[in-house]
Amino acid sequence: MKKRVLVATGGGDCPGLNAVIRAIVKRAAQTDEWEVIGSIRSFDGVLNEPSEIKVLTEDAVSGIHFRGGTILGTTTKGGPFAWPIKNADGTWGKADRSEEFMRKLQYLNVEAVINIGGDGSQKISQTFFERGLNVIGVPKTIDNDLSATDVTFGFQTAVQIATESVDKLVTTAASHSRVMIMEVMGREAGWIALHSAIAGGADVCIIPEIPYDPELITKHIKRRYKNGKDGFAIVVVAEGAKNKYGKQVVRESTEVGNANLRLGGVAYQLEMEMKEAGLESDIRVTVLGHLQRGGVPIAYDRVLASQFGVKAFELVLEGKFGQMVAYRHPDIISVPFTEAISRYNFIEPDSYLIKTARGLGIHLGD
Ligand code: F6P
Repeated sequence: MKKRVLVATGGGDCPGLNAVIRAIVKRAAQTDEWEVIGSIRSFDGVLNEPSEIKVLTEDAVSGIHFRGGTILGTTTKGGPFAWPIKNADGTWGKADRSEEFMRKLQYLNVEAVINIGGDGSQKISQTFFERGLNVIGVPKTIDNDLSATDVTFGFQTAVQIATESVDKLVTTAASHSRVMIMEVMGREAGWIALHSAIAGGADVCIIPEIPYDPELITKHIKRRYKNGKDGFAIVVVAEGAKNKYGKQVVRESTEVGNANLRLGGVAYQLEMEMKEAGLESDIRVTVLGHLQRGGVPIAYDRVLASQFGVKAFELVLEGKFGQMVAYRHPDIISVPFTEAISRYNFIEPDSYLIKTARGLGIHLGD
């Protein structure tokens, strides 16, 4: 009987997830000793009754490397340590099903787990590792906010989508002499915003790492207009941006089992603040949203994701558990979970990326 490795994708989806899954399966198939199974919607597939498990043969993953999303499905809700349960009074509570999860893995003959997910998922990996589970992590997020790896797959695809959107906004902005504000994702980090602002030639870029002053932005934008009417401006703003008073636009999630605060809407706040600061030009807002996570991964992300998948399975072969794979140019390495989840990846204010933006005359709101 073959040894079994279980693969799961957790948290928000991200272009490149399928390329990781395919790489794990292809590398495992070279051994003749391992079978790969997938848990549907992160670890829910193991916990659900009946369990939802998919055997991942080479045929099952053939040609999936360029498909967006994840063939295993994913979830941002609950998980083995905080499983949503409905109380008798109709309210929702949480149950810890982690021991049951471990028992079910034994029953399924799972010898190792590869958990593909962001920092939340890797915290779960670390806790299971401390309880004796043989687990390997693969980082994923379009936000590029994990410090242990130079870059995460999905990020460059999101940047490409955001940059193409800036290109499109330029032509309509120029035709109407408008100010276009485009809001992008990224949570507490401004990576997608800054990269797409530089690549797209934006006039202003607002990131969470630098609190913004709407009056300074307004002055800068006014200079982009001749005689007060001929001109246009493109503003890229990251969803996690804060104004100089520290105000961030967030909502509590109302989804059962989803503890994340929902970011989004800062572009509308900025529009109002610029009008209050005396900007008379027409302003239009585009919130790019989940378009940044959809569709096919660009080649760069397919390659990185494939490298992560192969490396993750090699760590299984080596029995090197409690590790997350990471990219440190030019190598694919592994780092302990404790290191992987210890530090958030902010853009450093003195980084060359910031210097480049300033050198290009992009106003950063300060
Ligand atoms: O972490 C990835 C991300 O796309 C963030 O950029 C964004 O804030 C969040 O997920 C959106 O989450 P959801 O898919 O739950 O709306």
